[in-house]
Amino acid sequence: MADFYRVTVAEYERRARALLPEAFWDKMFGSPGDPNWTTNANNEQGYTSVSLRPRILRAVDLEPDLSTEVLGQTISLPVILTSTGHHTWYHPDGESATARAGTAAGTIFALAMGSIHGMEQVAETATGPKWLQLFFLKDRDIMEDLVRRAGSAGYKAIMLTVTKPATKLPELSPVRGPNYPEGMIPAVEKLGNFAAYGERGELKAGVLGAMAPNVGWAEVEWLRSLTSLPLIVKGIQTAEDAHLAVEHGVDAISVSNHGGYSLVGARATIATLPEVVEAVDGRIEVLVDGGIRHGADVLKAVALGAKAVLVGRAMLWGLTVGGEAGVREILEIFREELSLAASYCGVNEIRNVDRSLVYTGHPSAAAPLSDLAVRS
Ligand SMILES: Cc1cc2nc3c(=O)[nH]c(=O)nc-3n(C[C@H](O)[C@H](O)[C@H](O)COP(=O)(O)O)c2cc1C
Repeated sequence: MADFYRVTVAEYERRARALLPEAFWDKMFGSPGDPNWTTNANNEQGYTSVSLRPRILRAVDLEPDLSTEVLGQTISLPVILTSTGHHTWYHPDGESATARAGTAAGTIFALAMGSIHGMEQVAETATGPKWLQLFFLKDRDIMEDLVRRAGSAGYKAIMLTVTKPATKLPELSPVRGPNYPEGMIPAVEKLGNFAAYGERGELKAGVLGAMAPNVGWAEVEWLRSLTSLPLIVKGIQTAEDAHLAVEHGVDAISVSNHGGYSLVGARATIATLPEVVEAVDGRIEVLVDGGIRHGADVLKAVALGAKAVLVGRAMLWGLTVGGEAGVREILEIFREELSLAASYCGVNEIRNVDRSLVYTGHPSAAAPLSDLAVRS
């Protein structure tokens, strides 16, 4: 990879920013200092409120085992490439490239419902484990068909995103306005997963118009009943909803505020993670996304009970800079940083870390040390 040298996610952010039009950058990733993106900033800053408690002189391996299992799938590191739409906006090779990078790194790629490359096309080129992300649509026949197609194409799970009441636009910069930069209007006919349905029914109004209002747990139950694939609900942010997810037969939760896209003023997801983990009490798996920019962030999240983290922006910055190779590099950056952080903390196996590995500044996790299961 002559064009790349191993750097940091922050460096990839800088390089990606230089390549993309400014208005597009602000629309997709948030304008620094813009009050409407405070939730994204909260997510990033949340990780600085959690500090590591390194155990020393433990004669650890220089190459700790970073592998873990998520919903029965072994992955080589606890970092999953998560669903974001329209990857060809960032690189012409689109979702196929991102998915191949996940396969090469031995991790899961979650394909967004609003992807340019459809699920079958992606499955042909990337043989590793894949999930399909869905928003709830008004047209249940299409929902049913999407789920059926995911099963046939070998996808390993369905991930339902529930971070915003559908059909309401996310809160976005009032300065830049809610409109997409010219030439970048997301059109249904360009979305691979919807090509088969043409201009059917509500799809005429675009994907946003096709999304169902008033989605509740009954809809989750309906989706649950459709498939034997594991069902992940992405967007849980409270202990109360975590309990409900367990009661409604969900297999995993992702603690997520949609990377700060939906609710201005939401709490950092890493701060919410402990209350969700406590509520779930090992009954289902918990994942987290939002603000993960460094391998040490991954270690903190796993220590606080996440099986793995999902990364959105970091993946897209890698894709922008270098297509498949760029996303692979992002995953290798996370792997190296995580490996180093784990070694410094006396960790041999990432799957065995627990809360004793972190101090936190968050009230929900500020148990006295005597209450924590400090490993000997
Ligand atoms: C540009 C962009 C597009 C996104 N599109 C989707 C989407 O189509 N479906 C979805 O479930 N989440 C979407 N998300 C949210 C991500 O899946 C994820 O929750 C978020 O990016 C995690 O935060 P991070 O970007 O700080 O890693 C999007 C996020 C970004 C930044």
